[in-house]
Amino acid sequence: MTTQYFESAQAAAAAALIRKGGLVVFPTETVYGLGANALNPGAVAKIFAAKGRPSDNPLIVHVAEEAQLAQVAAEIPAPARLLMDRFWPGPLSLVLPKTPAVPGVVTAGLNTVGVRWPRDPVAQEFLKAAGVPVAAPSANISGSPSPTTFAMAKAAMAGRVEGLLAGQDAEVGLESTIVGFPEGRPRILRLGGLSAEALAEALSLPLEELLASSVYRSAPPAPGMKYPHYKPEARVIPVDSLGAAQAAAEPGAAWLGLCEPPVGWDGPLYVFRDLDDYAHGLYAAFFDADRRACPSIVVLRPPETGLGRALRQRLEKASQA
Ligand code: TXA
Ligand code: MG
Repeated sequence: MTTQYFESAQAAAAAALIRKGGLVVFPTETVYGLGANALNPGAVAKIFAAKGRPSDNPLIVHVAEEAQLAQVAAEIPAPARLLMDRFWPGPLSLVLPKTPAVPGVVTAGLNTVGVRWPRDPVAQEFLKAAGVPVAAPSANISGSPSPTTFAMAKAAMAGRVEGLLAGQDAEVGLESTIVGFPEGRPRILRLGGLSAEALAEALSLPLEELLASSVYRSAPPAPGMKYPHYKPEARVIPVDSLGAAQAAAEPGAAWLGLCEPPVGWDGPLYVFRDLDDYAHGLYAAFFDADRRACPSIVVLRPPETGLGRALRQRLEKASQA
């Protein structure tokens, strides 16, 4: 397939391809998305083919206007409205009862739909110009790390989509946090780019209630969580200390963490200032380590707080066989 390239200033031209039933990769502040008109089942079906994605894994629908939200969400529970007012546009997806207009191919047959209003300015311009809600998973081949730079999105999707819209490096760098409302109670279904602490504070709920629900601990929370995810070619080896890192070291292994590696480390270094920087740089570091053909990436786990929670979950998934 011939892929058309668009500069950030050409968001409207890229959006025209969505209206024609095409697939368009576009930037967001979490990760790059692979978009199609959410109300066109034929267009949405092409997303699953382009990614090699299992069809029982539902998609998040992106909006940039109240009218687009009303097209897909049949009802907005009070705590969902509170979170929208506080955190939209931003790295938060909400699982809401769907309208009949949303085809089953988007929601994998569920009667709910995941919705997000991104804050990236190019994403907003693109979505407004599309004029329809846009279903979009992360723009990676299923199982691989999500693209956080245009170069990563292009490497994954060139030749598989009608359009590639350029943007900045994703500001947040982790997928959105997903919140659902089983029996009207807010629960985190997937940790992500908005911290659990921020959500708990906004909802005046104990963190444990938001996190430790049966929904979060057992299957199926977000259906996609049961599949392999976020895996680079290099083996990912999470460790908790420099001693453990030393024991796992091999020639050419990459180092990734919030501090310098053990002395004498032989391989590329990805050292982050803080948790925001870690989130921003994690997937791009995976991509770079693969480009350098590192056999493994030894990763010092971040503390289990704020974005560290989501980072630890991504590292566990990335390290699973
Ligand atoms: O930041 C993000 O969320 C990015 C950008 C592009 O917006 N998108 C993204 O999409 O990460 P994807 O497809 O890689 O992950 C979507 C997740 C899956 O785990 C899926 O199971 C869950 O959202 N999901 C979607 N609809 C759902 C629903 N109705 N109920 C529960 N989980 C749902
Ligand atoms: Mg994904």
